[in-house]
Amino acid sequence: MLEKINSLIAEVDSLVANNADEIEALRIKYLSKKGAITALMADFRNVPAEQKKEIGVKINELKNKATEKLNALRASFETTDTDCGIDITRTAYPVALGTRHPLTIVKNEIIDIFSRLGFSLAEGPEVEDDWHVFSAMNFAEDHPARDMQDTFFVEAHPDIILRTHTSSVQSRVMEKQQPPLRIICPGRVYRNEAVSARAHCFFHQVEGLYVDENVSFTDLKQVLLLFAREMFGEDTKIRLRPSYFPFTEPSAEMDVSCTLCKGEGCSMCKGSGWLEILGCGMVHPNVLELNGIDSTKYKGYAFGMGIERITNLKYQVKDLRLFSENDVRFLKEFEAAN
Ligand code: DAH
Repeated sequence: MLEKINSLIAEVDSLVANNADEIEALRIKYLSKKGAITALMADFRNVPAEQKKEIGVKINELKNKATEKLNALRASFETTDTDCGIDITRTAYPVALGTRHPLTIVKNEIIDIFSRLGFSLAEGPEVEDDWHVFSAMNFAEDHPARDMQDTFFVEAHPDIILRTHTSSVQSRVMEKQQPPLRIICPGRVYRNEAVSARAHCFFHQVEGLYVDENVSFTDLKQVLLLFAREMFGEDTKIRLRPSYFPFTEPSAEMDVSCTLCKGEGCSMCKGSGWLEILGCGMVHPNVLELNGIDSTKYKGYAFGMGIERITNLKYQVKDLRLFSENDVRFLKEFEAAN
C-alpha cells in the first residue's frame, strides 16, 4: 500500500492541466467520492494496526499534496485570465435601467391611439415665425395672444418667436401638402407665464388635423370619443361645449367624465363630474385659404390637447413643476407604466 501511495504522490506532483475542465477531471479522479485517494482511505480500515500510523501520515500527505496541486493549477488559470486586465469569469455589474418620462409615456400612448385611426406624425420648429403661429392661423393683427405677456420673442427679431401652440404645425403641413391630410403633431410649446404648480413657461401639446372632402363635425366627435375611451377607459363619456378659437369655426372644448369619481363629483372635477381636456373645431375656411387649400372643395377638423393635462388626469400629478425637475424619485414612480 505504501508503494501505491508513494507512486500516487509522484503522479500528483507532476500533474498538468490546460483548462478548468481538465482540472475538474483531475479533481474527480483523485479527490471526489469515487476518487483514488478516497478509495485509499476506505482501504485504511484493513491496514494492520502496527502500520496504521505510518500509512495514515502518508495518506494525509498525499491528500494535502493533491489539494494543493489542484489549487495551484486553478490559480495559474485565474492569473492567465486577468493577465490582460479583464477577468472574464467575473459576474457582470448589474445594469440599472432608467424609466421613461411620464410625458413621454403619455405622448407615445396618444400617438399610438391616433396612428391606429390612420393619423401620421408631423413636426415643426419650436422657434417659429409670427406667420405660422398666428397670421396663418387666422389671428387678427391685434389679437391679445400676440401680446408680449403671452409670447416669448427673440430679441431684435420681432417676427421670430417661440411657438405658443402646436397649431403652427397645421400651417407648416398645409403649405406643403394638399388634402387628404390626416396628421398629429406632438411637441413643446412656450408661454410667458410665471412658473407655479399650475402654470409653466413651457409645456407639451398634441395637435390633430384632418382635411378632406366631406369632413363633418360628426367625424370629429367620433374620433374624439374613440380617443377618450382608449385613453381613459371604455366607460368614459365626452361632452362638447361651444367655445372660440380664431382658427376653427365652429369651435368647441371637450370634457371627459371625471377619471377619479367617474362623474359622481369629487375634488378633482370640483364637484362637476367633468374634466376639460382639449380644444377642437372645424378648420376655419380662412385658415384653409391662407395655407393654399381650396375651402370650397375641402373641409377639415382640428384639435389640440395638453400632454401635461392628460398626464395629470391619468396619474394625479398635482404640481406641473415635477415634470421638469428630473427628480429620480418622481420619475421612478412611473416604472410600472413603462
Ligand atoms: N391651439 C389651442 C391652444 O393652444 C388648442 C387648440 C384648440 C388646437 C382648438 C386646435 C383646435 O387645433 O382646433 O390652446
